[in-house]
Amino acid sequence: MSDVLPGGTLRLSETLTVTRVGYGTLQLAGPMAYGPPRDRDEALAVLRAAVRSGITHLDTSDYYGPHLVNGLVREALHPYPEGLHIATKVGARRTADRGWPAALSRPELIQAVHDNLDHLGLEALDLVNLRMTDTLAARDIVEPFTVLAELRDQGLIRNLGVSNVSAEQVEAARGIAPVVAVQNYYNVAFRQDDALVDRCAELGIAYVPFWPLGGFRPLQAAPLERVAAELGATARQIALAWLLHRSPTILLIPGTSTRAHLVQNIAAATIDLPSRALHILNAIGAPAH
Ligand SMILES: NC(=O)c1ccc[n+]([C@@H]2O[C@H](COP(=O)([O-])OP(=O)(O)OC[C@H]3O[C@@H](n4cnc5c(N)ncnc54)[C@H](OP(=O)(O)O)[C@@H]3O)[C@@H](O)[C@H]2O)c1
Repeated sequence: MSDVLPGGTLRLSETLTVTRVGYGTLQLAGPMAYGPPRDRDEALAVLRAAVRSGITHLDTSDYYGPHLVNGLVREALHPYPEGLHIATKVGARRTADRGWPAALSRPELIQAVHDNLDHLGLEALDLVNLRMTDTLAARDIVEPFTVLAELRDQGLIRNLGVSNVSAEQVEAARGIAPVVAVQNYYNVAFRQDDALVDRCAELGIAYVPFWPLGGFRPLQAAPLERVAAELGATARQIALAWLLHRSPTILLIPGTSTRAHLVQNIAAATIDLPSRALHILNAIGAPAH
């Protein structure tokens, strides 16, 4: 692996330091993260290219596919190079109609952790994010996060994170075990989590925005296109550069199914955003007063 990747690294804990530019595996499955990839060879090539380029943070889940994407990660990269860290998520399962119902009971969480270990071919998971689903009360996270904290004490998990959570749920989880990452929906046009992004920076916790490029609905904003044209970059690259600039503890995990987009996404970390551009970009998703 190259040791020079634009964007640098972030230390999340004693056992976890990753490149700020990472890669999310969701787009490697079929539509809606269900079923096999459109192009299996390209999926394997994207994973290998990500790691070869120096990325040390892959974000995956056993419910992508389901199971298929972790199988691709293993096939492409096992035995894993030293320094590569694979983050995964538990707390949901898939249904044949491509749904994502919650799977937060003790047996479901234990099974999910073992499934991730088996399918990735690992003895311990570097980072497991507990993905909450449609639950907003802080107390809802206590039981499932306690189960993961127990699995951490047993040595099956090295670090814990939370996903789809409120600030109150982050605090409740921190009362049970250290939280090293928060993974929520956030991008230049969707900034509901502005305060939580800043709170994570204060606490030294990684904030990992999912759908950094808009996910299933690609980001579209005229000011974004304008800044991109002025700086000779693509709108997606500017959206990623803005996130890196937004907070020092933001980690990028853009998803792509192609090597061409992977290269563009990594190059986004080399883009300097002048203050005029930042002014325009900051206004895109700023809360209305
Ligand atoms: N915790 C959660 O609940 C949750 C939910 C969703 C996602 N995630 C994680 O977050 C990661 C990122 O989310 P995501 O993949 O759903 O959405 P995303 O990164 O916002 O966007 C992915 C989309 O952007 C396209 N794209 C990527 N790079 C591009 C480029 N340079 N130019 C033009 N188009 C580009 C991809 O198409 P191509 O394949 O054609 O490049 C794909 O359609 C996922 O991989 C997953 O690990 C977590």
